[in-house]
Amino acid sequence: MLELTRTVRFCLDEAADPSIWASAKDNTYSAWPAMRGLGRYYEISVTCRGEADPQTGYFLNIKHIDEAVREYALPDLAGLLTGPTPASAIPMGELMQRMVNQLYEPLRDTVAELTLHLTPRYALSIRSDDMEHVIVRQQYEFSAAHRLHVPELSDAENREVFGKCNNPAGHGHNYRLEVAVRAPIDPGGRVLDVDELDQTVARHVIDKLDHKHLNHDVPAFKDLNPSVEHISQVIWQMLASAVGPLGPAEGAVVLEEVRVWETEKTVCTYRGPGDGISNC
Ligand code: NI
Repeated sequence: MLELTRTVRFCLDEAADPSIWASAKDNTYSAWPAMRGLGRYYEISVTCRGEADPQTGYFLNIKHIDEAVREYALPDLAGLLTGPTPASAIPMGELMQRMVNQLYEPLRDTVAELTLHLTPRYALSIRSDDMEHVIVRQQYEFSAAHRLHVPELSDAENREVFGKCNNPAGHGHNYRLEVAVRAPIDPGGRVLDVDELDQTVARHVIDKLDHKHLNHDVPAFKDLNPSVEHISQVIWQMLASAVGPLGPAEGAVVLEEVRVWETEKTVCTYRGPGDGISNC
């Protein structure tokens, strides 16, 4: 089995005109329909699972994914933007379920996951085999200093292993953090408000790490080398129980994934001690 993910970018506004959608597509790389005035920009990523045709190498023509999103999901979103319900009150869990249901048949029952990127930093995902939950993803940043050093190794060995990162006075990074939680869709079709997650991450992670020297200021790193791998695992430990009180009932919201970018080129993903995958 393989998974193919296709992202469709588009802009909508309150005067969304379906006749435009039938016109020639000019710039689908940036967004089509293109931005008009103070419209809204969205991305939908659809992951489909299946086997490639041995002759064509295609499992699904990506044009079909584009067409399905534009034919079904795009008018749905446009209708919501022009409908009576304020944008802030739209039941997003129900919307995510509906989008998967709309795309499932046109894409020959292959849809495994659908992600709606609402901002460049915030996204909701739903999996077709778990339609009662939504994965809420939000990104954060913090700046911190650290020194990579293992006391059990000699100074020469530390310099050999860690290079410049062993500088005795430390050095700094602007870390980017992505937190993903799995939250239930309530009977009204709603999911966790992301500002609830923001408050929890701020209190349990950002306030404790931002503008700190990790080796000296953060107890978790007193005897733990603050590599990006360990930082990801420490953040997991900070959040795993902290997200429990979020949402409709204790324990309903579960930490799904922590990703930490130490630089734009280096990212570590941690999905908890039971996952067996630590992809750094
Ligand atoms: Ni470093």
